Amino acid sequence: MRGVIVINFGGQYAHLITRRIRDIGVYAEIVPYTKASKEFVEGMRPSALILSGGPSSVYEPGAPSIGEWVLDLDIPVLGICYGFQLLAKMMGGEVERSKGEYGPTRIRVLERRGLFEGWDDEELVWMSHSDHVTSPPTDTVVTAISENEYVAAFRHLTKPIFGVQFHPEVRHTPKGRLLLENFSIKLARSERSWSPERMLSIIEDYLRKELRDCKSILSAVSGGIDSTVATVLVSRFARDRVTAVFVNHGLLRKGEPEEVLDLLRGLGIDPVYVDASQEFLEALKGVEGCEDKRRVIGELFIKVFSHALKGREFDCLVQGTLYPDVIESGGEVGADRIKSHHNVAGLPGWLNAKVVEPLKYLYKDEVRKLARHLGLPERLVERHPFPGPGLAVRIIGEVTEEKLRIAREASAIVEDVLRERGYYSEAWQAFAVVGDDKWVGVKGDARVDGYIVTVRVVESEDAMTADWLRLPPDVLEEISKRITSELPKVTMVTYAVTTKPPSTIEPC
Ligand code: XMP
Repeated sequence: MRGVIVINFGGQYAHLITRRIRDIGVYAEIVPYTKASKEFVEGMRPSALILSGGPSSVYEPGAPSIGEWVLDLDIPVLGICYGFQLLAKMMGGEVERSKGEYGPTRIRVLERRGLFEGWDDEELVWMSHSDHVTSPPTDTVVTAISENEYVAAFRHLTKPIFGVQFHPEVRHTPKGRLLLENFSIKLARSERSWSPERMLSIIEDYLRKELRDCKSILSAVSGGIDSTVATVLVSRFARDRVTAVFVNHGLLRKGEPEEVLDLLRGLGIDPVYVDASQEFLEALKGVEGCEDKRRVIGELFIKVFSHALKGREFDCLVQGTLYPDVIESGGEVGADRIKSHHNVAGLPGWLNAKVVEPLKYLYKDEVRKLARHLGLPERLVERHPFPGPGLAVRIIGEVTEEKLRIAREASAIVEDVLRERGYYSEAWQAFAVVGDDKWVGVKGDARVDGYIVTVRVVESEDAMTADWLRLPPDVLEEISKRITSELPKVTMVTYAVTTKPPSTIEPC
């Protein structure tokens, strides 16, 4: 499929750019700079090329680079941040260390057409760089200047080569999406054809090929949207050959096991259901450290899972791996690859099966779009991501039945209130955390040594960074009132207002 290729020079920038382009409706794929030979790129027949940002300096020995052939393509090329500096250097300009520009920065737009069509003379953009272009290449015209008088953008005088120092892919550049749209649609004339229908047809082609030789297919369902959608997709092709297995480790959200079972059965998939709640709680007794809890859960998961499958043979295994995981592990969607079983807390080593990954082309928000297109219930589609070890990582210290009940019920209240007040879909994740610290409270006439519940509601695009959601005081008040009145053992509710970094999203 013809689309935009994003050459990745490191860091998370390439994913953000790719997602933004896809959001515009144009297919985009990431190619690491190490693989970006002329033949490879031309073989993909892209409509445009974007050189991403990255953490290096272009003048360092061995800095990531790309062949001079990019300067002579007949498709538009856009360099962003590092990519911009790299283009500048390759075309004979100079890049030097500077005092840097970070965060919101004003720029003066000198040419309000082409890339900057629809931009005003002065605009706010997001900068994040310590090197800058001190001398633009002679064949270029400077199209924007920053408030520090740095070159903020240029274009080649005769070739379709463009560069911007700022990051149009981040939300903090208000007109960034428009710039990427100008580039990919107006300048590159890319097809606007990336839609759920198109996603589905690519996946169907993939599954038709991959499932051909599968005699018996295993699909492990966790309750989350990825594994559920992957199972549903595979079942469309090979219902008679699929066995879905759903292990309830007792650390799921309120109502989750019932919802998942109902959904699968409603779709004609009858999963092997294993309720191992008591076994997991037993194994977690006395375990306090975060990583220890993860290890205990991971190991027991494999045991329970293996036991449930005893005597059965499978030659194919379905996983809900997403596009970022494929790229992060050095793969690419076009290449065959066997990946470690990271999605289901590790699967038994004896399960020597071919891995089938129907979602490996998609980002999380695209899986949601596809799920809606497939007619899956909205409650599943919009449900927040949930960690494999479940509520165990939302409990600080030992997992006891009491703390588990508090974390589960209080989280359900947080989710309920956000749904009712219309904030649920704005949040990336929203939950309640409980530990062992106590707060003296007064309930009725008695003093109670009650639990402290911390409410965490964050917005994020990919969980790499996160910000706490600025909920109105009356919403916070409602959450606090409901938690303390519905859970008598809780005497204090706090709201976590630390971003990631320096914090993380989960407490554990
Ligand atoms: P943190 O807490 O590191 O989390 O900011 C980033 C994202 O990853 C999820 N998360 C996990 N997912 N197993 C998982 O499958 C885990 O052990 C785990 N720990 C964190 C977290 O929910 C967030 O979306």
